[in-house]
Amino acid sequence: MGKIIGVVNQKGGAGKSSITNALSHEFARRGYRVLVVDYDPQGTQTMLFGFNKLSQFIDTEHDITNIFNNEDINPINVKENLYLIPANQSLREEAESGRMGKELVLSNFLRGGFGKKGIAEEFDLIFIDSPADSGALTVGTIAASDYILIPTRLTFVDSTGLVGTLQTIIQAVITFRLELSILGFIPVAYKSRLKEHNDVLSSLKQTIPQILEKHSFIKKASDELFLEPIRDRIAWAEAAAKRVSIREYIEKEKRAQKDIIFSIENLTDEITRRVLLPAEINV
Ligand SMILES: Nc1ncnc2c1ncn2[C@@H]1O[C@H](COP(=O)(O)OP(=O)(O)OP(=O)(O)O)[C@@H](O)[C@H]1O
Ligand SMILES: [Mg+2]
Repeated sequence: MGKIIGVVNQKGGAGKSSITNALSHEFARRGYRVLVVDYDPQGTQTMLFGFNKLSQFIDTEHDITNIFNNEDINPINVKENLYLIPANQSLREEAESGRMGKELVLSNFLRGGFGKKGIAEEFDLIFIDSPADSGALTVGTIAASDYILIPTRLTFVDSTGLVGTLQTIIQAVITFRLELSILGFIPVAYKSRLKEHNDVLSSLKQTIPQILEKHSFIKKASDELFLEPIRDRIAWAEAAAKRVSIREYIEKEKRAQKDIIFSIENLTDEITRRVLLPAEINV
């Protein structure tokens, strides 16, 4: 079964969708079969893949809310090795419904059980892009994941949101008896010369391990909790506006900014090591 990575931060604009998009393209490029689940009713990820009209998926074989009725979904093959389950606005209604066990619906769909095969069987890697809240879809993302990846910006406000996110993860692990591991924290839109960013980063590097130490039942994929920061670059928003992957955008239009590609490659290498995927997949 493929490894399931939930990308989570209950603060808005943390970089969840950007990082998910960049990593999914990069892993697919390397030959892994990758599924991206857009579990955010805002549908940013779906739009990043070029689908602007979310309502087109309602009541189709691609409708994410099918899983709440125990029905199947046919992921969209967006390019070689890369598949998307798009979001639509109905996801919010499902999240707010009184349905029993709504936080476990995605996990059951991906992992299967009770005579049903989970869709994770068909992929090497599954990314879940989650919304900016601590509701049923975020908890559902956590409950479905083998690994949690946490992008964060480095302002003071973002750092308090991060502690809240960690508390949500801890609470979900306890409530649902989860076996997940923290894959790592990624500082996003980092400005190396900005004092606030450096101060917040060093303070997070102290407080986060302390919180996790108090909850030693939460596994870590590595003792080095913080991954290499992704620098603040306008190319991310520009690529998003053009609905192309960051690599494609830089290769075509911003060749001077190859360092962004290197940072994604390094992040992909490190995640490969942490998630224990084979170094190469023979395709
Ligand atoms: N490294 C970066 N440098 C500068 N801007 C960035 C960087 N990464 C992402 N951005 C921009 O920051 C904004 C928010 O990013 P993104 O949508 O990925 O965050 P998010 O956590 O998914 O937000 P939401 O909580 O709304 O889902 C976007 O405009 C994106 O293009
Ligand atoms: Mg997002």
